[in-house]
Amino acid sequence: MYHPLFRPRRLRATETIRRMVREAHLRVDALILPLFVVHGRGVRREIASMPDNFQLSVDELVKEAKEAAALGIPAVLLFGLPATKDGVGSEAYARDGIVQQAVRALKDSISDLVVITDVCLCEYTSHGHCGIVDRGRVQNEPTLELLARTAVSHAEAGADVVAPSDMMDGRVGAIREALEEAGYDEKPILAYSAKYASAFYGPFREAADSAPQFGDRCAYQMDPANADEAIREVALDLEEGADMVMVKPALAYLDVLWRIKAEFGVPVAAYNVSGEFAMVKAAARLGWLDEERTMMEILTSIVRAGADLVLTYYARDAARLLRAQGR
Ligand code: PBG
Repeated sequence: MYHPLFRPRRLRATETIRRMVREAHLRVDALILPLFVVHGRGVRREIASMPDNFQLSVDELVKEAKEAAALGIPAVLLFGLPATKDGVGSEAYARDGIVQQAVRALKDSISDLVVITDVCLCEYTSHGHCGIVDRGRVQNEPTLELLARTAVSHAEAGADVVAPSDMMDGRVGAIREALEEAGYDEKPILAYSAKYASAFYGPFREAADSAPQFGDRCAYQMDPANADEAIREVALDLEEGADMVMVKPALAYLDVLWRIKAEFGVPVAAYNVSGEFAMVKAAARLGWLDEERTMMEILTSIVRAGADLVLTYYARDAARLLRAQGR
């Protein structure tokens, strides 16, 4: 009879000993809650494909963000749905645009909440692309100018961090320069550096009403097959002045996350996107998965793979659970 000398099971015998040797820990400080803001008052419209997530008017958004802050969640990420869309995404950089209003309201009412704004045009353009379209193609430089204006308008409203998600070349540099010219040299940029052209964004496009009206985003977002390219994207964004970088989606890209953390050692965020969330919700509703365990396994795996920050529609549930566990 073979008796193994080394027995990993010794350290798995009880929950207490497992807790002692556990390597990765999800902390509430790592969580960022994405929120969707719309015009109006008293609006709280559930997003069909993202249960427990809502399109919120500014008054309702403040309530939601207060609850998140009370749970210990340090930051929210804002997406806006404009009153009207046009070819150049005017409301994205309007002084009284929906996100600008939301930022002011949050900064006025919740002192220690970090407010991050998504900087992109796709929710604001009639064609649903992330930039200016000419001859059927998204034009890089004309878009940079509008992204920079958008970021500055968010900073003027009081945003703590701006997060460009458009994937134009040079956008971090353009935004950094514009922020400095406007006197905001201390505003951090969280760059969506390795953002893939992913089918997992499906539910989000319903939530933010941002589906492209023709074609797809493959000419600006990354090819899911590429990882070396993600390293180059991150290197460029850091050179251009990004303070934190992001991998998105998270779950199908844990290898990319790992490589980026190992290579650069800067704060790395991972976006557990709408489709990843919706898959778990749907399976849980069918009784095919234990929702709470699946949620924690996914979020912990993202941290284990190297994420310092996790953007997740589960932020509230995870924060509540961590609190109940006394962590
Ligand atoms: C674009 C943007 C998208 C998401 C965040 N910012 C969608 C897209 O690129 O089409 C997706 C987030 C999610 O799926 O949860 N501004």
